Formats: sequence, C-alpha cells, structure tokens
Amino acid sequence: MRTQRLSGSDPADIARAAELLQRGGLVAVPTETVYGLAANALNVQAVRRIFAAKGRPQDNPLIVHVAKQEQLTELAEMTPRALRLAQAFWPGPLTLVLPRKSVVPDEVSGGLDTVAVRMPAHPVMREVIVQSGVPLAAPSANRSGGPSPTTAAHVLADLDGKIDAVLDGGACALGVESTVVDVSAEQPVLLRPGSITEEQLTEVLGPIKTARAVLEPPEQGARVASPGMKYQHYAPKTQLVLIRSDLAAFAAFVNARAGQSVGALCFSGEEEALAVPALSYGSVDDALEQARALFGALRGLDALGCKVVYARSPQETGVGLAVYNRLLRAAGFEVLELA
Ligand code: TXA
Ligand code: MG
Repeated sequence: MRTQRLSGSDPADIARAAELLQRGGLVAVPTETVYGLAANALNVQAVRRIFAAKGRPQDNPLIVHVAKQEQLTELAEMTPRALRLAQAFWPGPLTLVLPRKSVVPDEVSGGLDTVAVRMPAHPVMREVIVQSGVPLAAPSANRSGGPSPTTAAHVLADLDGKIDAVLDGGACALGVESTVVDVSAEQPVLLRPGSITEEQLTEVLGPIKTARAVLEPPEQGARVASPGMKYQHYAPKTQLVLIRSDLAAFAAFVNARAGQSVGALCFSGEEEALAVPALSYGSVDDALEQARALFGALRGLDALGCKVVYARSPQETGVGLAVYNRLLRAAGFEVLELA
C-alpha cells in the first residue's frame, strides 16, 4: 500500500483524509498530544486494521475521539463527574473512561463494558472529525511497544506502507498522551498521567485515586485497570536505565563507564559534563518542555549506537509525573538510585 502524504494546512487534503476515513481507511492525524492512527470507530473492519497495522494486542482498547459532546450520547453514559471534567478540560488532553453503549464494537473497547472517549483540541483533528461525520478510534500512531509519534516523520518511520495516509500538522504541542481518568464507577481513578495534572483533576473532583500501574510494574498475570499498562511501552531497542540522582552523581556514574558502549539521556546543557554520547530531552526545571521532547529523544537513542543508555530522571510532580511514567516504562522499570 502507498501511504499518501497529506498536509494539514491544505483544506483539500483535510477533505481527502475525511473521505478516506468514511470509506474505512486508516489515516494518521495530528492531535495536541501525539499523532493518532484514526479509523471510523463504528466500522469493525476499519478498527481491526488499526490493530494489524500497529501490531497491537487485541485486548488493548482504543480511545474514541469526538468533536462535540452530543456525539457522545450514542457511545457512552456521561456520569455527573464526567460532565464536570468535560466542562473543565474539553476540548483538550483528557480521556474519560465511561460506561459504554452497545453501538461501540467489542474491538474498540477490548471486550470491557467501558469505553474511553476524548474531545481533542487540535484544529486539524477537529476538522477531520467534523468532516468525516463519524467518531474516530485512534491509538497513538506508532508500532506497538515503541515510542509514540510527535511528528509526521515519526509516523512514517513506523507505519509507511501500512496505512492509507498521514496528515501532517507539524510537531505536537504537548508531546505526551492524554491524561486518562476512569469515571465509570463511584471512585474516580487516574489510569494514565498526562498534561492535565492530578492537582487539576483534584480541583474539579476532590481527591482521586491513582492506579497502582502508574508507578509500579504489573504483577505477573494480574488484572490491570487499563490493559495498555501491562504491555512493554515506549521502549527503544537500546537498554535504558533510569537514574535518580543529581547531575554530579549522574556524571560521575556514566563517566566512570566511558568507552564501555554506554550513553546518556540528560537535560539540555548537561551534555558538556558527560564523557559519553548523549541526547537531551528539555530543561531540568521545565516539565512541559521535557514532555514535548521525550518521545523524539527516545526515538533517537538507538542511533547513539550504545549497549546501554542511562537516563536522568525527571521531577515526579505535575506534568513531570507523566514524563516519569513514560520513562519508567521505556526503561522496563529499571531504576537506580545514586546516593
Ligand atoms: O493522547 C492520546 O490519548 C492519544 C491521542 C491519539 O488521542 N491516544 C492514545 O491512545 O494515547 P493509546 O491507544 O496509545 O492509549 C490509550 C490508553 C491505553 O493505555 C488503553 O489501555 C487505555 O487508554 N484505555 C482505552 N480504553 C480503555 C478502557 N475502556 N478502560 C481502561 N483503559 C482504557
Ligand atoms: Mg499508545
């Protein structure tokens, strides 16, 4: 299959993307978080093609994207808490897990009795949803298990020849996937941290629970609240180890291993202190910048040609929690604490 290159700044290309989606096609689309691999959520054949193109396990459910709240009424049960969150944060980087209605195919919800929904803010994505006239199922547009794509070039590196088109909307503004909150039951649960922080959610809902899987590896065979969290994720081919320490201890640790096929993932400007090949992912004190840069940096790590890369660990509060959560998975939960 030839993957068409479409431009998000060309109205004719946006119309083309919408038409491909109406016909059951797969189109990678820009959102404010990461690029999504979209298909008509109500077309079972089209949804199956998403799983095949990504190599995604069947039991990992998809997020359904809508442009207006009215589009949700046939898909999901809006609970009072969900309405409050939608009012505060939509359109934007927040996904709500809600009781699903029967029109949602099992393929979309992974057989669960809930469905995840989001109203994205990116103007190109919103236009594609409106013009296609259907809700769009869209996981991140990467090969399953690898880092999410934040540019059209990332999408093509993973999926060229496997999808109908990619709609180029430039680099994603936020860079980590949406915050996922389960509001289907009495107790709201944060399933995946993102740019909408726990503090922001608490302001609207009061105290909220955080799923164990946000910071801990899944137990073998355990049932997890969000199926996506049990799979290996975001990982470069190179072994990655997260180091919790200050810069001085980090530099001493990696420099002692210089010449042993060791590399570093550090914060901007820190490369000079390191005697090993290094890539950076934003400033030490700017979690938003780290979020924006993280997946691009993870994609660049294999090119360093090292056996193992040691990564500086970010702050674990606010948006930093989302960055830390992705890095933990990319490192397969391998973390070293230096005194
Ligand atoms: O920012 C985003 O959310 C991006 C853009 C494209 O919208 N999408 C995205 O999709 O990150 P994906 O498929 O890569 O991640 C969806 C996550 C997975 O961890 C999945 O297990 C979880 O949401 N999820 C989906 N439906 C769920 C459900 N019904 N219950 C619990 N978790 C669910
Ligand atoms: Mg993903």
